[in-house]
Amino acid sequence: MRSSLGPIVGKINNKNIYANQLLRKNNAIWEGGRYTPSDGSDTQSGGTVKKLTQDAKSIVIYWSRSGSTELLASKIASITNSDILQITLKEPYPADYLKTRSRANFERENNIPPELNMELPKLDQYHTVFLGYQTWAMTLSQPMKAFLLKYGSKLSGKVIAPFETQGGFGRGDSIDIMERIVKQKGSSNNLFEPLLMVNGNMVDQADEKIEQWINTFEK
Ligand SMILES: Cc1cc2nc3c(=O)[nH]c(=O)nc-3n(C[C@H](O)[C@H](O)[C@H](O)COP(=O)(O)O)c2cc1C
Repeated sequence: MRSSLGPIVGKINNKNIYANQLLRKNNAIWEGGRYTPSDGSDTQSGGTVKKLTQDAKSIVIYWSRSGSTELLASKIASITNSDILQITLKEPYPADYLKTRSRANFERENNIPPELNMELPKLDQYHTVFLGYQTWAMTLSQPMKAFLLKYGSKLSGKVIAPFETQGGFGRGDSIDIMERIVKQKGSSNNLFEPLLMVNGNMVDQADEKIEQWINTFEK
């Protein structure tokens, strides 16, 4: 499970979601996403969250350390009737925020994103790929970067709908980096929908924002 620190805030593919940052109301120190702990396991108990059906036209692919992006992913998947795939890592980030930040900074500065522990299914059936990640150090988080570096070439021809949670400082250059890596990896004919950005503290109130975002998509 994501964490025993807080209440269950949702479900994704029948697994509980715990989003520690939503506890801000009781613990102001986590405002801005800083110091938000996790359970030290990015992955849900029982393995990767995966829902792959034969007829879905879209898939939500996401990574989440402390549950906020996972909650947003669950909402998008249920509103759009999408399949779901969680990005998982060989070595999860630590529960402690500062230790996570040190590791993430090291990986970013030395350009060694974490190793993935997952396979990408065939994407042929999907028209739209939702990609969920979070702002880290005002750029794309390292796990999403790792995913795009490994699988960016598989996104050719897809509509890409990015969604992001952040601690209040915004998206930084994350979306530019995402578009650049996808292109660099040889993916072509992509349409990028506008980025949906939600404060990690407010994902529980994001339903209307998600609906509005989806309504702007090219039909
Ligand atoms: C290592 C690290 C770096 C972060 N850097 C930023 C940042 O630069 N700007 C920002 O607004 N939030 C930042 N945050 C906060 C996260 O983006 C925010 O808490 C997000 O909702 C977490 O998503 P998750 O719960 O899905 O892991 C950072 C969090 C971590 C762990």
